Amino acid sequence: MTRYRLHVNGSRREVDLPGDTPLLWALREQLGLTGPKYGCGVGACGACTSLVDGAAVRPCVTPVSEVGRGRVTTIEGLSDHPAQRAWRELDVAQCGYCQPGQIMTTVALLARDPDPDDARIDEALRDNVCRCGTYTRIRSAVRRAARLARGEG
Ligand code: FES
Repeated sequence: MTRYRLHVNGSRREVDLPGDTPLLWALREQLGLTGPKYGCGVGACGACTSLVDGAAVRPCVTPVSEVGRGRVTTIEGLSDHPAQRAWRELDVAQCGYCQPGQIMTTVALLARDPDPDDARIDEALRDNVCRCGTYTRIRSAVRRAARLARGEG
């Protein structure tokens, strides 16, 4: 066991884990942040997507020892982000399981590309799987979130 000091959702948090433990386990099991979901465990589905220093990462394949001073943001760390508002407005979720990951990938996309076209939206969210097939609503919500973030109501 090693003690790691993580910066999560604006707070310093400590976890005691073997260094090769995936960050997802630290977030869910030790810190009680269950927004990032366990789907595939191999970085392929996107259900666990969270941010480290603003970039979308897959905590299920990110060893806690590699996080270092990175600032981790889970969906619990968002505060009425335009993506969350757009998701609610358009009633995107069906079962909901993948949606935190979809939203976190959207947050990272809009931070680097405030006005993505459909091709860039599809590229950014390509590896976030939705078994309910809500992809059309997700794409609409990303466009809506971009407008909200630009103050275009
Ligand atoms: Fe992390 Fe699937 S659970 S990508």
